[in-house]
Amino acid sequence: MIHLTQKTAFITGGTKGIGFGIAQALLSQGVSVAFTGRHKAGVAQAQELLKHHCHDSDVKGYTADVGVFDDLDRAARSAVKDFGGIDLVIANAGVGHFAPVHELSLDQWHETINTNLTGVFYTLKVLAQQLIQHRGYFISISSLAGTNFFGSGSAYNASKFGVTGFTQAAMLDLRQFGVKMTTIMPGSVATYFNNHTPDDSDFWKIQQEDIGQMVVDLIKMPPRTLPSKIEVRPTVPGGLK
Ligand SMILES: NC(=O)c1ccc[n+]([C@@H]2O[C@H](COP(=O)([O-])OP(=O)(O)OC[C@H]3O[C@@H](n4cnc5c(N)ncnc54)[C@H](OP(=O)(O)O)[C@@H]3O)[C@@H](O)[C@H]2O)c1
Repeated sequence: MIHLTQKTAFITGGTKGIGFGIAQALLSQGVSVAFTGRHKAGVAQAQELLKHHCHDSDVKGYTADVGVFDDLDRAARSAVKDFGGIDLVIANAGVGHFAPVHELSLDQWHETINTNLTGVFYTLKVLAQQLIQHRGYFISISSLAGTNFFGSGSAYNASKFGVTGFTQAAMLDLRQFGVKMTTIMPGSVATYFNNHTPDDSDFWKIQQEDIGQMVVDLIKMPPRTLPSKIEVRPTVPGGLK
């Protein structure tokens, strides 16, 4: 997938944060972008902002919850119809609930697993045939929490260890069709994750456009070569003293 123009990406959770950064980076390379979010207003607002980077018809948002199969299936079918096909899928949508395991509620557990893990499976499930047809590329946004566990992280760790394992196993199934699959595992990124609002004190963190650049670099790799699992972290946690 070295020639990027005339390609189309489908990004879950493209309204803000990492998904938005990836959408900006891909649009700047001439890739058309279909993206999702849960809320109509948020999707419309992100679509307006992203249009500053491209022609109006190059970007379109769809309201869909990744944890609801029919919702996501409807959005994917609409995107295939609107853009004529999907070549690149970014399973990015995610939430974080952090609490000691004995205080973690059932709702927190289910929302984390449904969104972060089942949502990644649903995202691949609804677009796998497109990827096979186009010899496309699937990238999941896991986390360093998909390999390092920590207190109060039981639900999040379970979901992200799951995403890492899911993507690597699915890669073994689909690469024989020429489909590339990569798991990106970031450390701290300056986003709206877990009700954070990015500000100047986040200067030392990875920025959302850095993950966007990483996605562009990945899809420009020679077709024969697949970086399948990537850990990426801030160079100096907290910044230089
Ligand atoms: N920030 C970090 O330090 C960090 C580090 C490692 C990995 N990650 C991962 O990066 C991914 C993106 O997170 P972020 O940091 O960019 O957070 P963010 O700024 O809060 O953005 C999250 C995105 O996911 C969407 N989303 C959440 N639940 C959804 C659902 N059920 N269905 C569809 N869309 C949903 C949100 O859209 P709406 O709110 O508009 O629905 C939003 O676009 C997540 O998977 C997260 O686990 C983040």
